Amino acid sequence: MCGIVGYVGDKGTVDVLISGLKRQEYRGYDSAGIAVITHDGHISSAKKAGKLQALVDELAVRPVAAGATGIGHTRWATHGAPIDANAHPHLADGGKLALIHNGIIENYAEIRDEMLAAGHEFVSETDTEVAAVLVGHLVNSTGDLRTAFAQAVNRLQGAFTLLALHVDEPGLIVAARHNSPLIVGFGDGENFLGSDVAAFVAHTHRAAAVGQDQIVALTADSVTVTDFAGNPASLEEFEVAWDASASDKGGWPSFMAKEISENPDAVANTTRGRVVDGSVTIPELTELGDDYLRGVSRIIVVACGTASYAGLVGAYAIEQWARIPVDVQLSHEFRYREPVISADTLVVSISQSGETMDTLMAVKYASEHGAKTLSICNTQGATIPRESDAVIYTHAGPEVAVASTKAFVAQITALYLLGLHAARVRGTLDATELARNAAELEAIPAKLEQVLLTGSTVAQLAKWMSDTPAVLFLGRHVGFPIALEGALKLKELAYIHAEGFAAGELKHGPIALIDHGQPVFVIVPSPRKSEVIHAKVISNIQEIRARGARIIAIAEQGDAAVLPYADEVIQIPLADPLFEPFLAVLPLQMFAMELAHAKGLDVDQPRNLAKSVTVE
Ligand code: AGP
Repeated sequence: MCGIVGYVGDKGTVDVLISGLKRQEYRGYDSAGIAVITHDGHISSAKKAGKLQALVDELAVRPVAAGATGIGHTRWATHGAPIDANAHPHLADGGKLALIHNGIIENYAEIRDEMLAAGHEFVSETDTEVAAVLVGHLVNSTGDLRTAFAQAVNRLQGAFTLLALHVDEPGLIVAARHNSPLIVGFGDGENFLGSDVAAFVAHTHRAAAVGQDQIVALTADSVTVTDFAGNPASLEEFEVAWDASASDKGGWPSFMAKEISENPDAVANTTRGRVVDGSVTIPELTELGDDYLRGVSRIIVVACGTASYAGLVGAYAIEQWARIPVDVQLSHEFRYREPVISADTLVVSISQSGETMDTLMAVKYASEHGAKTLSICNTQGATIPRESDAVIYTHAGPEVAVASTKAFVAQITALYLLGLHAARVRGTLDATELARNAAELEAIPAKLEQVLLTGSTVAQLAKWMSDTPAVLFLGRHVGFPIALEGALKLKELAYIHAEGFAAGELKHGPIALIDHGQPVFVIVPSPRKSEVIHAKVISNIQEIRARGARIIAIAEQGDAAVLPYADEVIQIPLADPLFEPFLAVLPLQMFAMELAHAKGLDVDQPRNLAKSVTVE
């Protein structure tokens, strides 16, 4: 939930730290801070509650001195309110040690009592300061930062990525990870640490993920890795596939606007290389093997939030094409229900960040109980893919805005490719049907470009509705998960009550919510190929309109049946019913963004949220 950065080298350390934090601010923005070992051998640090800009403003008045070794942190608060005193870095050992942390230390209270009994004092409410004081205490007993740090991390329980530096060992940063992400960036005469590659992609594309329960000693020209017991370990280097400009706004008013505009490319880039001559092959699935896929009796999808709604959409396609039952479960519920798992159960995790702790724990549970695991992930080298038997990377590019947009359509793309790949292997679709559906998928980017053209209409609608207190969303079949996603986007971005329903559920209670003027978005199925469901949704619209609802219909071009009953119609291009979700979600993403804009809210960093939820 926090962004961390570490640097040892001869560039301007403060600038490297601040720019690294800026590219990771979406991971948490309750406070920010940096600490540097100065050339004259002391620690110079600054930290401020609020977004990174507050720290930048502070540094303009009280700059942190130059140095070759530094760490930085942008926080999503877990223990202790987001105030200056609780911001990281935390100092210890008389101001000679600085430490930053991402995660939650579950046994901090007992260690805090131990340190108090040893005569130490605390200035914050955080679990992180306890770790800092513990390391400082052990440095004094061992005389060595590496040894002290190793002893400390072996005491800690919970989830943590820790970085620490000490004035007695300038040029060295020690770091460790347990159930929380940490990436190394390899430079020339300089090295980097980050929560993800965004921390240093502007300086190097050479990276490696630190493994579970590993410790890194990083200097300007060396990276040494051991396990928590001190045994040597190694890292697997990879090349970062995107450059820093991809994580810049590029002239857009917000990352949200930029990433919504990238929906077409997210689908195209995820499809590319996996649809060839009308057939679908996902090379990464060779890890599982065709025989295994032919034997799969059930798929369980584990995901959270928007990713879970992508799973709900994908379930329709996979069941229809590959004839495999698909059960979508929220990661944080999955392992506590003692799920029925067998050797022929494939557990598919969906995670944009690849670091969502709930989903990581679900994947580990599935593996421990005999299932094969497949990760659908948008972040190279992330923890969940590394804990899975196979991975299908989506290629949406870095998604910086906290509310997910392009990654969502990329996740659906990956699930559709999985369904078609499995259908080919299992022989449940013939070549003609495979080719037809593959062509539908390849046609989606161009159709999304057409939907983007409705942006000004949607923006006007959002302005009209800027004071609405609540919005409902209705959908049927694959439109139902889109109703859920549309509601989540509005909650996340505009902070208003929004709820998605299966349209057929309305009469079983929710219709009581309908009052005069209540805005209701309705995702209308195609009248051409879903006549029965289309007719039912039209009658649902009539039922709520009769009770005063204000209907905003998302309907395909040429659907005349909806016109008499809708106050607004946002038209989307014709597509096969299973492919409508790609197109129907885009106006809802734009609507949520525009309504948030109209309310003067920060669409990239909504309150209380963080891009990667790395605590359970
Ligand atoms: C998406 O708009 C939300 N920010 C959130 O629901 C997100 O989808 C969820 O936390 C899962 O994140 P992940 O895909 O990185 O695992």
